[in-house]
Amino acid sequence: MSMEVIQTIDGLWRAKHHLCREFATKNQKRPYVGLVPTMGNLHHGHLSLVRRMVDECDVSVGSIFVNPAQFAPGEDFSEYPRTPEADLMQCEDAGVDIVFMPESDALYTQDHSTEVIVRKLTERYCGAERPGHFAGVTLVVAKLLNIVHPDIAYFGQKDYQQFRVIERMVRDLDFPLDLAMCPTVREPDGLAMSSRNAYLAEDERKAAATIYSGLQELADAFATGQDGAEALKEVARTELAEAVQLEYLEIANAWSLDPKESAASGDVVLIAAKVGGIRLIDNIVLAAGDENAH
Ligand code: PAJ
Repeated sequence: MSMEVIQTIDGLWRAKHHLCREFATKNQKRPYVGLVPTMGNLHHGHLSLVRRMVDECDVSVGSIFVNPAQFAPGEDFSEYPRTPEADLMQCEDAGVDIVFMPESDALYTQDHSTEVIVRKLTERYCGAERPGHFAGVTLVVAKLLNIVHPDIAYFGQKDYQQFRVIERMVRDLDFPLDLAMCPTVREPDGLAMSSRNAYLAEDERKAAATIYSGLQELADAFATGQDGAEALKEVARTELAEAVQLEYLEIANAWSLDPKESAASGDVVLIAAKVGGIRLIDNIVLAAGDENAH
């Protein structure tokens, strides 16, 4: 069956209703509906979420929307790479049923007045560096969840803070769905895949790979028994190439994201850095001894 590409909220409701009814008639049960929200320019990272959704769900919906609300002033909203044809082909190949690809005014009315703000969790790290960013993310994700009504939505570990913020919103506002955190997909040298990697020049691209090797060194030092956060962070800092300008590097509790002085298994190491003006983020979850840290 061919994939449907839908641009309006009404159209999405109709297409989803139709597919769900068809499934229910045929199988005598309600379908399990999945959603993968994206901003397009799909790479293997996004596609890993999409494939898992198609695998686990009866009806799968992907969304492609470069959300103006989550770009802080002066950020790259207008230059954000847009590749709709290639994205749609990849979704179709992966077996997605519906792609929701609204225009900005189909999602935000001119007198849109409502905010969705998760406090505390959004105040540190990327929230501190990018004012208003997470309010834009929670707003659009809340809208997409209300439009699509999925039983499960998939997000990447790559954006760890984003996942925890969305998880908190879902819990606090009683959105009735499950969330899945999918592992970060990386380039062969370890750099986390990101649409922004395409902006990097060759030497910057090499330097950027030290962000993950730094995280790995830190995780290895933890696995061999070091737990002082300062000393562990120094292990990572030493690994970073000169061209990597650190924005933040913190060992944090996985749920509260509060910084830790002494690291424990399950804590997350969050990093953001600029390479040649391009902002990159990554993270790693710490595991003790012979548990797999990566
Ligand atoms: P975007 O950056 O397009 O990412 C869409 C989803 O893909 C997010 O859940 C992100 O964590 C995941 N992802 C990106 N790179 C990944 C990688 N290398 N490995 C695994 N997953 C990866 O994140 C957003 O869009 C937006 O903020 C959105 C949630 C869609 C709201 O507008």
